[in-house]
Amino acid sequence: MKRKFNIKINKAVEEMPPSGIRAFFDLVLGMKDVISLGVGEPDFVTPWNIIESGISSLEKGYTSYTSNKGLAELRRDISRYLKNRYGMDYDPEKEILITVGVSEAVDLAMRSLLEKGDKMLVPEPHYVSYNALPSLSGASPVLIKTDPSDGFKITPDDIRSNCDSKTNSIILNYPNNPTGASYSRKQLKDIAAEVLKRGLVVLSDEIYADLTYDYDHVPFPTLPGMKERTLYLNGFSKSYAMTGWRIGYACGPEKLISAMTKIHQYTIMCVPITAQMAAREALKNGDKAVLEMKKEYKRRREFIVSRLNEIGLSCHRPEGAFYAFPSINGTGLTSMEFSQGLLKEEKVAVVPGTAFGVSGEGYVRMSYASAFENLKEAMERMQRFVEKRKQ
Ligand SMILES: Cc1ncc(COP(=O)(O)O)c(C=O)c1O
Repeated sequence: MKRKFNIKINKAVEEMPPSGIRAFFDLVLGMKDVISLGVGEPDFVTPWNIIESGISSLEKGYTSYTSNKGLAELRRDISRYLKNRYGMDYDPEKEILITVGVSEAVDLAMRSLLEKGDKMLVPEPHYVSYNALPSLSGASPVLIKTDPSDGFKITPDDIRSNCDSKTNSIILNYPNNPTGASYSRKQLKDIAAEVLKRGLVVLSDEIYADLTYDYDHVPFPTLPGMKERTLYLNGFSKSYAMTGWRIGYACGPEKLISAMTKIHQYTIMCVPITAQMAAREALKNGDKAVLEMKKEYKRRREFIVSRLNEIGLSCHRPEGAFYAFPSINGTGLTSMEFSQGLLKEEKVAVVPGTAFGVSGEGYVRMSYASAFENLKEAMERMQRFVEKRKQ
């Protein structure tokens, strides 16, 4: 008998677990009448003026590649926007790269920075890619657990006690997916001081910056001594409801941006020009729409957090992004059992906290980027589900 050909897969890739969110959502596919609070994307359509600028660029014949780094005009717009908004200073020629969402930027940064044996600090619960991607470079994530008692935030002590001679970097994400935690200027300053002492490079994923509800967002590179060691990541997916356009950007030290650009030019070449043209309009005339969406998310946050606490699922108040991360400990179920049971019995989809690392056990993530009516109905169904478990 002919032996079957065995394709050998790179070990690091073979051992990489699939995204916990995707694995769970394969269950949702094919089910009818499910209220999904699972996916992390706005329920809004991209504002019309932004869509129109994409369409009109196509009509005008903008269908070509752009510079690998992205349209010079867009890089200049980003530079100007960051200057006006936060007083940040980035040279559009050397310090800004347009990427296929923040997703690509995280990958490029990790591949550019990490080598075999290196360690990167990753506060947990964390966005799904942070613990998976370092292994592609033979590096490993050092997970720092956070919980509601510390507001799901790391402290300088956490950094100190988790660093050794192999630790060269840390990835921060605030407002955070999945916990919604963010940091005040004072908290960030303390973290920055420790980062400086340890000589770390910082990847700062601030994709939810515009969705900070209770105070002003402080970008990490604006803190003393941080600009030269921080890669600032942001994008259009969340604030402008542009997930499907696939566009984000990285700003940072020339040396790092130029290393990332090398990989980007071989693998991606450039972000589609249509998305880049639309992004220009978003930066120029998108603020009003962002504020309107933010107002609505904030209203939903108040509702969902108070309803969750009311039905006995203790929920820390998220300071930003559009996720609630309630504890399900009182139900006696694991995160997976809770999520599967809720889906099967009440047709509400949430994500098991374990998709965001082991310390997510005992929690589920619920996105409130879903219509108010859906949230109301979902909470009724959840209440029924939880009350059955109380008896
Ligand atoms: C924290 C965080 N970073 C990055 C991303 C990816 O965003 P993008 O659509 O820009 O690739 C997400 C998406 O959910 C996210 O939550």
